[in-house]
Amino acid sequence: MNEQWADVCNIDLIPEDAPHAVAIDGREIAVYRVDGEVYATDNVCTHGEARLCDGYLEGHEIECPLHQGRFDVRTGRATCAPLTADIRIYPARLEGDRVLVRLAAAS
Ligand code: FES
Repeated sequence: MNEQWADVCNIDLIPEDAPHAVAIDGREIAVYRVDGEVYATDNVCTHGEARLCDGYLEGHEIECPLHQGRFDVRTGRATCAPLTADIRIYPARLEGDRVLVRLAAAS
């Protein structure tokens, strides 16, 4: 697994209220921007074949577009039904205007 920080996009590409999808080493990642902080999770829901980049971000929770399950983007924790599995999160940080993500899972 790639332990390096990947430069994935400019912060301006991530709206405050919506996720943005990027790919790192062929893996789909959703990046989020909340209150000046950046977060990253797997993009594909743990419940089905839905992409969180098409979901609705409210505060720190991303709502899946298919069955409205929610994950906390800070922890990856599934916060409501029908989700039964948390989502993988990744370390993310800002360096100037660039968003960096490390594929080594944070949880
Ligand atoms: S596919 Fe995401 S909640 Fe069902």
